[in-house]
Amino acid sequence: MRLLLATATHAQAWRDAFAAALPGAELHVWPDAPPEVDYALVWKPPPECFARVRVRRAIANLGAGVDALLRVPTLPADVPVLRLTDAGMAEQMVEYVALAVLRAFREQREYARQQRDGRWMPRPRLDKTSYRVGILGMGVLGSAVAQGLLPLGFPLAGWSRRPRRVDGVATWSGADGLDRVLAGTCVLVCLLPSTPDTRGLLDRRTLARLPRGAHLVNVGRGDLVVEPDLLALLDEGHLASATLDVFDAEPLPAGHPFWHHPRIDVTPHVSAATLFHASAAQVAARIAAHARGGPLDGVVDRALGY
Ligand code: NAP
Ligand code: GLV
Repeated sequence: MRLLLATATHAQAWRDAFAAALPGAELHVWPDAPPEVDYALVWKPPPECFARVRVRRAIANLGAGVDALLRVPTLPADVPVLRLTDAGMAEQMVEYVALAVLRAFREQREYARQQRDGRWMPRPRLDKTSYRVGILGMGVLGSAVAQGLLPLGFPLAGWSRRPRRVDGVATWSGADGLDRVLAGTCVLVCLLPSTPDTRGLLDRRTLARLPRGAHLVNVGRGDLVVEPDLLALLDEGHLASATLDVFDAEPLPAGHPFWHHPRIDVTPHVSAATLFHASAAQVAARIAAHARGGPLDGVVDRALGY
């Protein structure tokens, strides 16, 4: 089996992980590429890659979100695209979101300010029974986050494209469903993919439907949020805080207003890191099963964009 590995970063770590996961395969690392391979293993590959190399069987995206790959103009239309599903990311996402939700609920930002001012001022406990966490995107990661939050006792609401049933979560879909989720949500967690239907979804109109004092946690993609609208709602006090791991432009440019905004926490796209060995093991198992004549697991619906 002949493979091409083409990643924008960490080529050596990926090479080692795939060499261990598929020891019998002939592994080429871009730009050292033959004219034809069976499978391509890619993360943000250069467009020349698909212009120079014909991929016969499938292209495996070495990440959960395929938005960057689907934008590569040379991506062949007739080759299936796979994405990572969990592969060690769900546990990390649960940790990140739980931390953000608890910081919001326990008003850690207020207490940090009081400490800076040298003020000792206990605040009344917030009512957890009405402190709802709303999760946009109830796929692999959103559902894991919901399961991780359940034991903490917050009422949970989830939103997806198609109706879904998830134990312990009030689930909604469609435009009406989004309104219902937003109306009662104190912390809004965004775990949607970036697609033609979701880009710019979190604009002023949508975010303003959250109750005053709500918090936003965006761990999906930066372009789901209209950044100037978010800034305006924070500055007007409609939103209390935003915890942002993903941005329109990454790395977040120097001088961007998010860097020093008093109500924004910035992390550099680390809420769920791609784990080289767990990811390579997942992709290797899928490829091996497919090469033996089995179905492909983890195929993306390119028309939907996720
Ligand atoms: P997934 O399993 O495909 O789940 C996507 C969810 O979004 C599904 O519930 C889907 O609805 C919903 N959705 C898609 N389009 C929608 C629409 N138009 N309206 C309402 N709901 C919609 O994806 P995942 O593995 O959970 O990953 C989600 C995203 O997380 C990735 O695409 C990526 O952008 C981001 N991510 C970020 C990091 C990070 O470190 N920050 C790491 C990994 C992933 P259905 O259930 O109806 O299909
Ligand atoms: C990371 O953001 C991913 O999509 O895996």
